[in-house]
Amino acid sequence: MIYLGIFNRKQKKVDNKFSIIPSHIAIIMDGNGRWAKKRGLPRTLGHKAGVEAIREIVKECSKIGIEYLTFYAFSTENWKRPQDEVNGLMKLLVQYLKGEFKELDRNNVVINYIGNISKLPEICQEELIKAKNLTKNNTGLTLNLALNYGGRDEIVYSFKNILKAYDQGEFSIEELNEEMISNNLYTKGIPDPELMIRTSGEERLSNFLIWQLAYSEFYFTDVLWPDFKKDDLYLALKTFERRDRRFGGLK
Ligand code: FPP
Repeated sequence: MIYLGIFNRKQKKVDNKFSIIPSHIAIIMDGNGRWAKKRGLPRTLGHKAGVEAIREIVKECSKIGIEYLTFYAFSTENWKRPQDEVNGLMKLLVQYLKGEFKELDRNNVVINYIGNISKLPEICQEELIKAKNLTKNNTGLTLNLALNYGGRDEIVYSFKNILKAYDQGEFSIEELNEEMISNNLYTKGIPDPELMIRTSGEERLSNFLIWQLAYSEFYFTDVLWPDFKKDDLYLALKTFERRDRRFGGLK
């Protein structure tokens, strides 16, 4: 959590609209299909409109001084969708990385991904790795794209890493702790999200960051993802500002 204004603890490029902002926002961008259906358009055009919303929200979060922004772009379950839709999403990802790279880099954005990207088409992997390498020294917002990501899959991944170290005799069972599990997740080194936003009226986690969201504030809105604009983000941040976060303790 970053305190601003008179509580300013960090030098941040911020406008003083909020007294407090989350350092990490995680977003489930839901409702692209319904947005398209309402307009008699194919689902892929809903996703295309969803990318426009990503552009606007990345820009705003960067401006406000958010440090990490994680988008649930493609889940381990999304492979069950029709092949055309999956191909369309992969194409949009490549177009986004190619088309938006210069602007993101100019805005000092670090491009990162979480999830098992080895199952994505090669062109996606190449563009992701290239974007990550070229922006790794930037110091602004970290844009984290969750791709072929599943929270349960991530916990298995963490355990596999931990058990390899256990096999090498690096620690005893008694020493296993929460920090070790966190440090072996895809999100290693990234603070847990303080705010999770899900659009389109659905109120569930759908296997998104299930370990990391243990103490996050949840914000659900009926707005469909392609319609989620700057004002909707501000509303979510204003709501967050009013939340009383106790982490199981007392104020
Ligand atoms: C959920 O809406 C959305 C997704 C599963 C995909 C989100 C991906 C993008 C917006 C583009 C990815 C590209 C980049 C640049 C990261 P839904 O299709 O489940 O909507 P519905 O519930 O209304 O059918």
